[in-house]
Amino acid sequence: MTLRLTTAGESHGPALVAIVTGLPAGLTLERDAIDRDLARRQEGYGRSPRQRIEQDRVEVLAGLRHGRTLGTPLALVVRNRDHENWAWGMSPWPPEREPAGKGKEPVTLPRPGHADLAGVMKYGLEDARDALERASARHTAAIVAAGAVAKALLREIGIEVAGAVVGDDLEERIDAARADRDTVGGVVEVRARGVPPGLGSYATKEERLDARLAWTLMGTQAVKGVEAGDGFALAAVRGSEAHDEIRRDESGYRRDTNRAGGIEAGVSNGEEIVVRAAMKPLPTLMRPLASADLGTGEAGQALVERSDVAAVEALAVVAEACVAWELARAAREKFGGDALEDLVAARRAYVERIPWSAR
Ligand SMILES: Cc1cc2nc3c(=O)[nH]c(=O)nc-3n(C[C@H](O)[C@H](O)[C@H](O)COP(=O)(O)O)c2cc1C
Repeated sequence: MTLRLTTAGESHGPALVAIVTGLPAGLTLERDAIDRDLARRQEGYGRSPRQRIEQDRVEVLAGLRHGRTLGTPLALVVRNRDHENWAWGMSPWPPEREPAGKGKEPVTLPRPGHADLAGVMKYGLEDARDALERASARHTAAIVAAGAVAKALLREIGIEVAGAVVGDDLEERIDAARADRDTVGGVVEVRARGVPPGLGSYATKEERLDARLAWTLMGTQAVKGVEAGDGFALAAVRGSEAHDEIRRDESGYRRDTNRAGGIEAGVSNGEEIVVRAAMKPLPTLMRPLASADLGTGEAGQALVERSDVAAVEALAVVAEACVAWELARAAREKFGGDALEDLVAARRAYVERIPWSAR
């Protein structure tokens, strides 16, 4: 028993779609909670005016009845309101009308740091838009919707996941970059409380929880580094300062430090899960970088498309969704159950056996 997520959707196409399979029956979902996370993804200092157009809302097409999951595939849709401006340019079928709106001209000056050039070569495209539309981080709206479902499941077994930006100088850096028509990146951190020992496994690479969290974070647009616990800093200290000593009290096994970020040998150890992701500066610059034309090879300036100065706060929301998804998947694998109450009962019996209680 595992959770699976398939997404589809282009940045300016009609909608983003997420299909979730493997949910137990009887999980209550709240539309407002999903919409709240979608709104959080759109907020944050440094975002572009597109966020004012979108105002994402989730629609559910299948798998839910009166707010409760049926144990069948759950189909989520987030419409792209901006699509009306791209109705010709991003029409799924050959448009019958004369060219109108956005996307009429092909993109022939690929943006460094984007999918544009690699995508054109790989898929044999003439218009880089065919690549950039799917590579765009607009896709993360579908991930966040699925993450909100995962968070609802985790809440039933006492797990809370929260993402935040690391550092408090972000607004200053963004203001300075905007003034220079430049962009910035940053670091986000996700913490998960209430994760019992035993999610993930050391048995195979694919099952390791740290590998799964790294995969999902690195699989997110603009993420270029991931660490668990003290991560890269551990390389510079001695073993005596790097690990988390074990003691036992009446509530179970305890650690006074959490340098491992709650994961040892690819398995959660009962402490808080802590992972971080480093985001590169966004690659679309209002002062464009140098590029070369796809047709003529002539030097030019890369496409300038409405773009954020920074999206680090948005990444914190996306990373939270990614981590929630992987934890929910690992919890499904460990506790199983076709009905939610089976899963909750399995988790309770396990936690009593080890024994362990959340801090
Ligand atoms: C939430 C979020 C918002 C983003 N917004 C933008 C943006 O407005 N402009 C831009 O150039 N890149 C943006 N990006 C980053 C690009 O999507 C990403 O850098 C690009 O697709 C290339 O992928 P890579 O950086 O993973 O190599 C955003 C990324 C995230 C996670």
